[in-house]
Amino acid sequence: MLQNTHLYYGGDYNPEQWPESVWQEDARLMQTAGVNLVSLGIFSWAKLEPAPGQYEFAWLDRVIDLLHQHGISVDLATATASPPAWLVRRYPELLPQDANGTVLHSGSRQHYCPNSPHYREAAAALTRQLAEHYRHHPAVVMWHINNEYGCHVASCFCDRCAAAFRGWLKARYATLDALNEAWGTAFWSQWYGDWEEIFPPRKTPTMANPAQQIDYKRFYSDSVLALHRREYEIIKEHTPGLPVTTNFMGFFGPFDYHQWARHVDFTSWDSYPDPNDGVNGLAVNAAAHDLTRSLGGGKPFLLMEQVSSQVSWRPVNSLKPPGQMRLHSYQAVSRGADGVLFFQWRAARAGAEKYHGAMVPHVGAERSRVFREVADLGRELQTLDALAGSRVRAKVGIVFDYPNWWALNLESKPAQLDYLSRVLEYHRFFYDANLPVDFVSADGDWSGYRLVLAPHLCQLRTGVDERIRTFVRDGGTFLTTYFSGITDENEHVILGGYAGKISDLLGIWVEEWDPQPPGRILHVQWADGTHSEASDWCDLVHLQGASALAVLTNHFISKTPAVTQNAYGKGQAYYLAAQLDAAARTKLLSSICRDLDLEAPVDAPPGVEATLREKNSSRFLFLLNHTNTPADVCLKGHAGRDLLSGKNHNGRTILAPQETLILNLD
Ligand code: GLA
Ligand code: ZN
Repeated sequence: MLQNTHLYYGGDYNPEQWPESVWQEDARLMQTAGVNLVSLGIFSWAKLEPAPGQYEFAWLDRVIDLLHQHGISVDLATATASPPAWLVRRYPELLPQDANGTVLHSGSRQHYCPNSPHYREAAAALTRQLAEHYRHHPAVVMWHINNEYGCHVASCFCDRCAAAFRGWLKARYATLDALNEAWGTAFWSQWYGDWEEIFPPRKTPTMANPAQQIDYKRFYSDSVLALHRREYEIIKEHTPGLPVTTNFMGFFGPFDYHQWARHVDFTSWDSYPDPNDGVNGLAVNAAAHDLTRSLGGGKPFLLMEQVSSQVSWRPVNSLKPPGQMRLHSYQAVSRGADGVLFFQWRAARAGAEKYHGAMVPHVGAERSRVFREVADLGRELQTLDALAGSRVRAKVGIVFDYPNWWALNLESKPAQLDYLSRVLEYHRFFYDANLPVDFVSADGDWSGYRLVLAPHLCQLRTGVDERIRTFVRDGGTFLTTYFSGITDENEHVILGGYAGKISDLLGIWVEEWDPQPPGRILHVQWADGTHSEASDWCDLVHLQGASALAVLTNHFISKTPAVTQNAYGKGQAYYLAAQLDAAARTKLLSSICRDLDLEAPVDAPPGVEATLREKNSSRFLFLLNHTNTPADVCLKGHAGRDLLSGKNHNGRTILAPQETLILNLD
């Protein structure tokens, strides 16, 4: 867990790209900008170990000492994200291969196979040297393992990976019989008689075995996680007290972050919303903050990277207009971040990211709007120590499950079903309603929640049905949607009626599913006489104890249920059998929230985010006006002093365009 008493502010710092004379100016400008933490050494391997086993840390010592003299702490990287040229030359087999067998060469970054012993050993040795060397340096306050694992190479298909995969499968299945059964290899003559016959799911003529594909995802996520864990353990041997992280990437699909998050001391992520994405972009960014916080068990996280204004990797890289970077930063803090950091401190003058924005742009600090905004925010954050360590508390959980995501991405399914977009639609309701929400795994801890939503939980792993049953029996409210409870962890269909093992608690069973062609509208009639629309998909549901809150009126099965509710134990279970439009979703979810007394802290117009962070008896109410017009907010009985302006607010308050208030509630 983070150990800060201030909010952190700073960014990636790459001093090796600059002459030492610039370092002095950097340190001075960092002070001006309120910087108190920099991430150092992320891509420094070649400079730290210019030849095999020859470690040169003197330059880094000088940087860290200089920063320390200026009161700036260091998030020290293990520097293993980009193997040096000599290592590749010596062991070319450490290069990764794609599904076609194409080698991904050196000359950019992340060109390593996680199952290469040469990469693993060299990375571990460098980590050990760094940990030993800096274990007592007072400026080093945390560790940053590697960088954005999997960002460019989300899978490797080389022969070493094939061999490691076989080992992983032996550990999982013990016998080939068990593997053949789990993978359903009676299909298409895929039966294996020897472990050596098994390969990663390389490029195949057509659809590869689904269980093989899912297992490869599990295996590969584990393979890269093993790299992380090795470095983590080495660091912990030397500096057990310092918190360790690796930077996640929000809704990054290839790795199971629920598993990964068990192996960091705090979570962090890199946030790059497109300034052109408007409110949708804000909502998705908010969701990724919520995910990062949830992965860390609700503890404060770090916004490890954002850009001061423009990135360089989109087709069009627009500027953030004045004020937007500040608002985005407060969005992170309001959702649980204890620090705001950037990629990067000083804009590069060479290399593939030379057009990427930074805290200090190419024009230099003095004449730059961007630097002014950066420095203003840094000074402002220095006044917000009270927030450090406070937490967002959610009563609602949304199941976001990686193996399920992988399963829904397999080629063969009844219709396209974009899991992430669908999950985000549910998050969006809570975002718009200013109700805090966490993301949880299907087998995570749901005990703190009153409401758990599990959209499209197609793959229901063994035991998850019992967890849901217990949650609802004990008084929880559960909501799931069409195409849930269909397969087990090996992607075998559960027979005897869809919704399978959760049919009983839902009080329904599903006979068929009926995906709809684009543009066809399904008419939804609610029991209260109102009407909505649905599209894309409907399940043909049989009631078995549940009641229908809404039916479809224009399907060939007359009045087939669209929304059902079932009382189970002390709780309630809802099923959405069709893809309801946003208004219908809002209608249903609003009524569920009313029943559960889940209420927003304020009444605010659209475009205003309201969130609460709490610590001991202190409560901080964040109000963020993302619009360009004044916003009239009813504080619903709350009153308090704004930490930013010192002004008191109660009753109603008008937020200026783009204004942020952080009320320390009375
Ligand atoms: C990622 C990386 C950084 C940098 C930025 C550019 O977040 O971690 O090293 O490449 O992207 O946006
Ligand atoms: Zn490999």
